Amino acid sequence: MNLSFYVHIPYCVKRCGYCDFNTYTPSELQISDGLAQISNSYIDLAIQEIEQARLQVGEATVPTIFFGGGTPSLMEAADIARVITKIKNSFLLSDDCEITLETNPDTVDKQKLAAFKDAGINRISVGMQSAVAHVLKTLDRTHNPQNLQQVTQWASEVGFKDISVDLIYGTPGESLADWQLSIDAALALPINHISAYALIVEEGTKLANGIKRGEIGNIDDDLTAEKYLMADRAFSKAGFIWYELSNWSKAGGESRHNSAYWLNHNWWGVGPGAHSHIDGKRWWNVKHPNLYKTKILNNESPVLDQEILEPIQVESERLMLSIRLPSGVPKDSLSTEQLKILQPYVDSGALDLKNWGAGSVSLSLSGRLIADRIVREILL
Ligand SMILES: C[S@@+](CC[C@H](N)C(=O)[O-])C[C@H]1O[C@@H](n2cnc3c(N)ncnc32)[C@H](O)[C@@H]1O
Ligand code: SF4
Repeated sequence: MNLSFYVHIPYCVKRCGYCDFNTYTPSELQISDGLAQISNSYIDLAIQEIEQARLQVGEATVPTIFFGGGTPSLMEAADIARVITKIKNSFLLSDDCEITLETNPDTVDKQKLAAFKDAGINRISVGMQSAVAHVLKTLDRTHNPQNLQQVTQWASEVGFKDISVDLIYGTPGESLADWQLSIDAALALPINHISAYALIVEEGTKLANGIKRGEIGNIDDDLTAEKYLMADRAFSKAGFIWYELSNWSKAGGESRHNSAYWLNHNWWGVGPGAHSHIDGKRWWNVKHPNLYKTKILNNESPVLDQEILEPIQVESERLMLSIRLPSGVPKDSLSTEQLKILQPYVDSGALDLKNWGAGSVSLSLSGRLIADRIVREILL
């Protein structure tokens, strides 16, 4: 069996105003001397969970590993190396195993990037979000936009060939010209992959509260849609190929780890709050790092809950994930009723006419703007 690994690093120096990921800051954890002290002991726990995975799964080949967060680049390179070695010694690492580390620009220097490379990381994903100072301020990001050029340049110099940036568009107060600046700045970097996400205002975040109180403007959906079209135009012109609703890459630079999620392959999520999926069974770990630690140290499973997907859920997920891909959904996997519902979207140009004729339901550029609406119509 193929089994990808997601390793969650649930720590950040400071929480960004828009983010509701399962991550904790030193003040939330009441740690007085920063996060450096955590690296070693947290990784010990992750390694124990990998032992649990080996006992449960048996033999497997690992095609991808992804250190996500939180801020994985806060960990010591030697500790990241210990995780990779543990997975390598417990399973069979495929020869071309893709091993990604999410990186916040302010947390690394050239030396640390070189150490991550030596540890076995072969793909770096950098949280850029925007190149415009006032947008980063609204997002409540700590990093300096100038650092992006430096960090990606260093990553390239120490030998990383696969470098990605994450962008966010649609931030309140971001003009079309601001977004164009961010697009141009990203395209000037030595990268081969871009993820661009529309800002989601998550309930309970500082951003959501600021909008509620009227201190921050609201999201403008029309402007956000226009920004998606701008991004797709510019990325395509620069040789980045669209391969998932929010992802573009140079040829061969697609993230194989993310593709494993989208194709519903098997993966094990290590760490607090991490989700796993093996053959239609899903489970997720307890969320708080302290409870996770207690469970692991007591030799207990850190799983909080699990579900076995009903066939109808499996089918809904297949539709939701595959409609986001250029290959789309094979028409012969849909009922006559579903195809009838989709016909108006073909007529309006939201679904690609040529692909429809060739047997698949795939989004045109304008259709990508309403992907969720289209898929909702055909969910069972
Ligand atoms: C959880 S972060 C981890 C990476 C790293 N900590 C960083 O922020 O650079 C992964 C990505 O999710 C995206 N993200 C997080 N919250 C989001 C939100 N509310 N709306 C849109 N994108 C979001 C950001 O682009 C971010 O780079
Ligand atoms: S966006 Fe990244 S750096 Fe910011 S709080 Fe979320 S995980 Fe941490």
